[in-house]
Amino acid sequence: MANRLQELLSRRPLIAPSMLKCDFGNLHREIARLEQADFPVLHLDVMDGHFVPNLSYGPMVIERMRELTSLPFDAHLMISDPAKYLDDYVAAGCDAITFHIEAVPQPTDLLERIREKNCLAGLAINPGTPVDKIEAFIPHCDLILVMSVEPGFGGQKFKPVALDKLSHIKKLLRNDQLLSIDGGVAVATIGDCAAAGADTFVCGSSVFNEPDYSEAHSQLLAAIGAVKR
Ligand code: DX5
Ligand code: ZN
Repeated sequence: MANRLQELLSRRPLIAPSMLKCDFGNLHREIARLEQADFPVLHLDVMDGHFVPNLSYGPMVIERMRELTSLPFDAHLMISDPAKYLDDYVAAGCDAITFHIEAVPQPTDLLERIREKNCLAGLAINPGTPVDKIEAFIPHCDLILVMSVEPGFGGQKFKPVALDKLSHIKKLLRNDQLLSIDGGVAVATIGDCAAAGADTFVCGSSVFNEPDYSEAHSQLLAAIGAVKR
């Protein structure tokens, strides 16, 4: 884990394409295009139709994606019982596993279980949940994911309430913890997120709605004063 984390930390800022918005009929081609565009990590949105009102994909699909690339997989579990399914996501080849505080209000044991599996442990927080619900658990996290939309669907409008949360959480983090923002992140909104302290930017529509993924990557980085490495 130390190496994987170190590599991601050293490559910050990270633009993480959200595979929810990819063309699932052409996964092979989509992943090849993302690799060519030099994205450092792929964000995998898992939805159970219960924690969120939408269904996406699970470990079987991730396992097949794993055969197509060696890029790190950042799994975002929008599911009601992440503890029950953790082993499946580890076995499928996820490198970082993030679950929601709203699903697991006392997350210490699960965060530590994820780390024992040699994965990065992440905790996600919804727009309506106050930061004090996660504060005590931050030392057990490698990554904090701030939602800037209600989870469940791509293509929603960025909620500025996330910016105050980022600033607040940033002050509580060590330098070896990632601060990620997810939902409506695009050229117009990414600058404010970076200024508020985010270093990892989940981008669905702002990558997959663009004809040239490499150009989309460059433009998102340029909007925060960074270049591809
Ligand atoms: C929403 C997901 C996001 C989403 C991002 O529940 O967690 O990762 O796919 O898509 P955009 O960037 O289009 O908001
Ligand atoms: Zn996500």
